[in-house]
Amino acid sequence: MHVVQGIGDASDPALPGSMLDALSSNIAILDSDGRIVAVNEAWAHFVTLSDFDLENLGLGADYMSLPNALHASDSAAIDEGLRALWGNEPSPFRLEYETGGAVGRYWVRLSAVRVGEGEKPLLIVSHEDITPQRRAQAALGRATAALLHAEDDERRRIARELHDGTAQYLTGANLMLGNQKVEGRAEEIRMEVKSLLTSALDEIRSLSYVLHPPALEELGLGLALRQLIDGFARRTSLSMRIDIADDFPKMNAATEIALYRVAQEALANVHRHSGSSMATISLRLAGEMVLLSIRDYGVGLASEDSLTGGVGLAGMRLRLEFLNGHVTLTQGLPGVLVEAWVPFLAKNAAGA
Ligand SMILES: Nc1ncnc2c1ncn2[C@@H]1O[C@H](COP(=O)(O)OP(=O)(O)OP(=O)(O)O)[C@@H](O)[C@H]1O
Ligand SMILES: [Mg+2]
Repeated sequence: MHVVQGIGDASDPALPGSMLDALSSNIAILDSDGRIVAVNEAWAHFVTLSDFDLENLGLGADYMSLPNALHASDSAAIDEGLRALWGNEPSPFRLEYETGGAVGRYWVRLSAVRVGEGEKPLLIVSHEDITPQRRAQAALGRATAALLHAEDDERRRIARELHDGTAQYLTGANLMLGNQKVEGRAEEIRMEVKSLLTSALDEIRSLSYVLHPPALEELGLGLALRQLIDGFARRTSLSMRIDIADDFPKMNAATEIALYRVAQEALANVHRHSGSSMATISLRLAGEMVLLSIRDYGVGLASEDSLTGGVGLAGMRLRLEFLNGHVTLTQGLPGVLVEAWVPFLAKNAAGA
């Protein structure tokens, strides 16, 4: 505890110094004129590390002028809330605001309580850095919006495919069958109708495959991934190394579809962004968790910022978070390593 001389020694029951030092929030104690009369260790540490220019740790300074000076987003509300506390307002006062200096903006949760009665009550003002939570919330909000947008896009694409492809084949077949002038052309028309119906069927099959890969339910994730990888390797001439045990246990449907989609997206990213001619995919049990890894040997990740543009990675994160899992992307040096972790839940297990 750092104090202005003469105030707040450990024997003062209003200022439990050692207890305040044990707290991780930055705490300042204000006298009834709004002057900072004591600060805890966390405050002292913060001031030393930050770019805020507070002489003598801010001790003796007018706290009420700080929010303005530190460009807090809601300095008027802070002022009003603290003044009300000195008045008759029952404690506590709480507010979240954004502030910052040259180093960057960050979010603070301020809580203030009044201690001591009478004409000269003190205020204990605590400041907690909630920037990580705020950033995570904002990222989740962006990812959810991007996913909803992607879902709309996907629906539009499916509608277009059904309309422009499948429906056209069926319309063609219908017209052929309604043709009155069949004289001598029955076989030709039969062949034409057959070909149109086969095309329509093919499209419906591949569309339903995209919507939900049938192999997953029949074969389980291990074999479905092998099929996916074979097809992918054929279409892209990417050479793939697969490390998946033949007897990898079947898991509950939600886990399998999530990991399947992660593999699809990670492979698509390898193909689109990495420039690698080879990728490795492995699926294994790691204690209570399942670990799916996809690794390439290409250009690696550019800056952090470039990772936030698309919906692919955001989608992976959201899918796994719903299942209490998570995904990490690391530089493989060379290339990128994507690791998706989810709790293992056997097929038909309770809650599966
Ligand atoms: N294997 C990789 N190698 C290099 N860069 C990658 C790799 N995977 C992802 N990235 C980088 O991360 C960015 C974000 O990937 P993400 O999948 O979220 O979006 P996208 O692939 O660009 O678009 P989409 O929304 O269609 O998936 C990519 O634009 C790329 O810069
Ligand atoms: Mg992508």
